[in-house]
Amino acid sequence: MAGMSNILHRTTANAPPRAVSGKGLILRLADGTEIIDATGGAAVACLGHGNERVAAAIGEQAARLGYVHTGFFSCEPAEDLASLLLDGAPGGLTRAYFVSDGSAAMEAALKLARQYHVERGEPQRVHYISRRQSYHGSLFGTLAASGNLARRAIYEDVLPTGFSRVSPCFAFRHQRDGESDAAYVARLARELDDEFMRVGPDRVIAFLAEPVVGATAGCVTALPGYFAAMRAVCDRHGALLILDEIMCGMGRTGTTHAWQAEGVTPDIQAIGKGLGGGYQPIAGILVAQRVFEVLAQGSATFVHGHTYQAHPVACRAALEVQRIVIEDGLIAQVGAMGAVLDAALRNRFSGHPHVGDIRGRGLFQALEFVRDRSGNAPFDPALRFSERLKAAALRNGLGIYPGSGTIDGVTGDHALLAPPYIVSADEIAVIVDRLAVALDQAVGEVLRA
Ligand SMILES: Cc1ncc(COP(=O)(O)O)c(C=O)c1O
Repeated sequence: MAGMSNILHRTTANAPPRAVSGKGLILRLADGTEIIDATGGAAVACLGHGNERVAAAIGEQAARLGYVHTGFFSCEPAEDLASLLLDGAPGGLTRAYFVSDGSAAMEAALKLARQYHVERGEPQRVHYISRRQSYHGSLFGTLAASGNLARRAIYEDVLPTGFSRVSPCFAFRHQRDGESDAAYVARLARELDDEFMRVGPDRVIAFLAEPVVGATAGCVTALPGYFAAMRAVCDRHGALLILDEIMCGMGRTGTTHAWQAEGVTPDIQAIGKGLGGGYQPIAGILVAQRVFEVLAQGSATFVHGHTYQAHPVACRAALEVQRIVIEDGLIAQVGAMGAVLDAALRNRFSGHPHVGDIRGRGLFQALEFVRDRSGNAPFDPALRFSERLKAAALRNGLGIYPGSGTIDGVTGDHALLAPPYIVSADEIAVIVDRLAVALDQAVGEVLRA
């Protein structure tokens, strides 16, 4: 380790190893170790590392026009990025608002939804409904909306009020024995409707959800019909549907937008991570024409803003990333390689005594671990299984994204895989081999503990 660090790292217990370069799926550390990055960080690096086309575009843009303030000027990269994303008005979305990270995107979504109702003459709408076992960001508003217990706990008493949560659609853990998919979906729709009634149906601003739940519960997909049922509840009560696609969107699950597989369209959608592939910090919201029109015909001014919104270099990076995704047919590739990854995971782990569930969509897949498969009881959280798995994977040259509290914020462990869209079948085979070795090592450790 290279000397003392002045960084406040995520843990003060130790500084993480330093990464110095990356190419494709490979990250190189300062001591020369090579790691296969099977999650692109946190499902970010959709093109892998070291893409020279993106690097060149960033350099060229920084030299041409590094910064302008959106209160004075627009810029070509932001305009072009918005046009590319909204070409053909997908799902009725016609306006983009770019910010620097996912939390800021969801915060903008929360505020725009509130302003929409105020502009329509419904200022009594003051409440947001989200879901347990979800994550929407680390700012006070977005954390208040998040159902990630561990990230909320110490702030609980200082979070803004006006947020409540309903159950996620999490079949592996919560669909009852003998309950059909349709009956489970109907039960969840009733629960959401009951929550609207409890709050006062004309007091709800929006319902928020991740179409595929990411880091909190590990690639949990909804059952068919679930999002249509949720949308119907929102429509009945005049609330907006905000879809948080920061982790699962921009091609990650095999369609440009995850909602394209769900048969619904959002009023406001948040995107991030894969938007810029990690080459620049960028995220944003996409806004439905009907929401935009209310603003345009009302005060005409979104009461919100950031110094670095629609940053020229960040937008230029995302524009190049998205052009490459389109030109190289990478979303179809996500579908094809997602099938390879799914088959490889099932082939290797479906009989594993400590793998309870294999789930996800496209190149967004997770394993949920269990102490034993009869009843799928989780490991004791004190064993810190997912941390041990992360360390074992790193020892074997593999970067994965593990999580704990999968079931209820306290119990349960999972590991998420989200390789770049350029991953090959051979690389998937190596990832699964290394994961299998790491899993057996971590299981060995907890069984001895
Ligand atoms: C679904 C979802 N929403 C919001 C966020 C917050 O994004 P950021 O960490 O870029 O602020 C994340 C980040 O993990 C996320 O996965």
